[in-house]
Amino acid sequence: MNRHHWWRDAVIYQVYVRSFLDSTGDGIGDLAGVRAGLPYLRKLGVDGIWLSPFYPSPQHDHGYDVADYRDVDPVYGDLDEFDRLVTAAHRLGIRVLLDIVPNHCSSGHPWFREALAAAPGSPERARFHFVDGRGPDGSEPPNNWHAMFGGPAWTRVTEADGRPGQWYLHMFTPEQPDWNWRNPEVAAEFDQVLRFWLDRGVDGFRIDVAAGLFKHPELPDSPDPEADARTRDSVNPLAWNQPEVHDVWRHWRAVCEEYTARDGRERLLVGEVSVPSAREHAKYVRPDELHQAFFFDLLGAPWDADAFRKVISEAMQDIAGTGSTVTWVLNNHDQVRTVTRYGEPAPEGSGLGAARARAAALLMLALPGAAYIYQGEELGLPEVVDLPDDVLTDPIFRRTGSRARIRDGCRVPLPWSGQASPFGFTSGAESAKPWLPQPEYFAEYATHRALADTRSSWHLYRDGLQLRSALHQLGEGTLRWLDTQPGVLAFARGDDLVCAVNFGTAPVPAPVAGTPLLASGPCRPGELPGSTAAWWIDGS
Ligand code: GLC
Repeated sequence: MNRHHWWRDAVIYQVYVRSFLDSTGDGIGDLAGVRAGLPYLRKLGVDGIWLSPFYPSPQHDHGYDVADYRDVDPVYGDLDEFDRLVTAAHRLGIRVLLDIVPNHCSSGHPWFREALAAAPGSPERARFHFVDGRGPDGSEPPNNWHAMFGGPAWTRVTEADGRPGQWYLHMFTPEQPDWNWRNPEVAAEFDQVLRFWLDRGVDGFRIDVAAGLFKHPELPDSPDPEADARTRDSVNPLAWNQPEVHDVWRHWRAVCEEYTARDGRERLLVGEVSVPSAREHAKYVRPDELHQAFFFDLLGAPWDADAFRKVISEAMQDIAGTGSTVTWVLNNHDQVRTVTRYGEPAPEGSGLGAARARAAALLMLALPGAAYIYQGEELGLPEVVDLPDDVLTDPIFRRTGSRARIRDGCRVPLPWSGQASPFGFTSGAESAKPWLPQPEYFAEYATHRALADTRSSWHLYRDGLQLRSALHQLGEGTLRWLDTQPGVLAFARGDDLVCAVNFGTAPVPAPVAGTPLLASGPCRPGELPGSTAAWWIDGS
């Protein structure tokens, strides 16, 4: 490859706008808050940010229910503020990715409201999946599909004459009707949406539910509805991963290339691709499709050397020949944070989860490819596990009859400074309340404190990122596994970088003599302590 493609080894920071920094004092983060936080991100050393959805939305799924794809929700600011944010980010050398949600919109979107008001069979309804029900009076859903967040994937509407009528499809909540991508109007609309934001200067898009969009044309019953109901993964083979979706990504890639041809700036498309096999996953990153697709298997792997080695080796194999690089991720706004995930079932307060999360981060940053960091990960934030039921807002909680407490605990607003909530998160009065309550122990993780303490996770991430860009070999190429004892992984990158991780709890001999370049915890010469990762330059 002659030309460096910035995204191939980029480190992108996911900003969950609602919880990053609040500039208005209403307890909800906003775009001006993101702008105020840019110097912090620049210091950290990331290449870009991905902004979670900030579009006008009734917020049934925190913005993943979009009512207008071309505007900013007043809670988060306005288009002028958005423009200021992009300008300020670019001035600091930080690229900006938006989260685009093409599988579904909000039930408050004008086109959906028009569809509700229109008659069965109308062009307005043809933009969605409106279908007659089964049974003599159409009172049973058109098929047996389950929604991802619990319950059936169909909701019945009342027609203009006041009688129960057709059903519409929603693979998530009823407030998120699925678009009908077999209707060319939908494709044309999204083409315009992409251009709207590209014209405003964005550097690319994170694509929500990128294996969705098309459904089997006949909407037949799923072969295994129990499996669909059990999991949050997209397993129904008739609802996800239909071959036609690849034409959309080819078109979107062409749109990006068109903009690059104009100004030389390469845009990035990164897909949230959940598909059953690595081979299917690789199809999404063929050279004329998405640049990147999140590789979620690392995020799903337990803290175990063999499990990590297996998913890393598979990822490297599957990416070969696609033209892309692996897109690593350990945390995001839908998952329990690593500190807590890796801590279980370790005794509380043992610090094991925190040590392992730091080690995993150093491992991820040593791998070839790109990496995504979720806000707060760099502070070593644990999951907030004891939020009271009445503050939980994740629709999964509601729709599973209060069984699944999954996504609120990683979305608690960031602590910036001070000893008590709101920890500098809101610029409002002391009494201003963050939209999710912050626990007292967040004081230990505040960014001000982290920046002042060279042993903090923040410094580990910062140093890792600095070294990563200094050692240009890190993003590209492959890795060579080194022989180690069980429970330890070690690999070499390029000519001389070695990364080793001790998944056990007792120290082991270090694979390279001498002091490590960087380590996730204190190391004695010649030794790699338990739950620790380190990088060395192997001069031997
Ligand atoms: C993706 C998002 C998640 C959202 C869902 C529906 O999985 O990451 O937060 O709820 O799509 O849009």
